[in-house]
Amino acid sequence: MPYFIKPSVNLSREEKRAAYAAARQAILATLGEEPSEMVKMVTINSLLKSHLPYYYWVGFYLVRGDRQLVVGPYQGTLGCLYIDFGRGVCGAVAASGETKIVEDTHALVPGKEHIACDPNSRSEIVVPVRRPDGSLMGVFDVDSSLESSFDAVDQEELEALLGEVFGG
Ligand code: SME
Repeated sequence: MPYFIKPSVNLSREEKRAAYAAARQAILATLGEEPSEMVKMVTINSLLKSHLPYYYWVGFYLVRGDRQLVVGPYQGTLGCLYIDFGRGVCGAVAASGETKIVEDTHALVPGKEHIACDPNSRSEIVVPVRRPDGSLMGVFDVDSSLESSFDAVDQEELEALLGEVFGG
């Protein structure tokens, strides 16, 4: 594992709730009425990764044209640059518009159901990100180096936070 990346540490549901509450407060206080999508994305990446110790890779993939995602702001090892809709976890979420939680990435078909940008990724959550008009801006992707790091608490917290910040 690269020197600059720390292995994940899982949290209990109660610990998650407290960490998300602190992160949300910091994000909203930092952004205020900030209009820039780029500034919002880099702020969310940094503060969520600072507050949630199981966040190993965190970032955005943005819609490019009508069938592809392109890598956006992220923190972690080198992420794949382009992902077609329907391919991998991110592409599946872009196609379906529904959040997806993966308890064990090794249980998925490599290259089709899961794209392993980093071999240390063991569990994942991907959440669609929408603009105020409801259009899909992209997806928010989080990987953990541990299995089963993500659950309904993450889905609820991330859908609420991303909806609040991006207006979708
Ligand atoms: N695992 C994702 C690809 C993005 S890398 O994890 C950053 C997927 O299966 O779509």
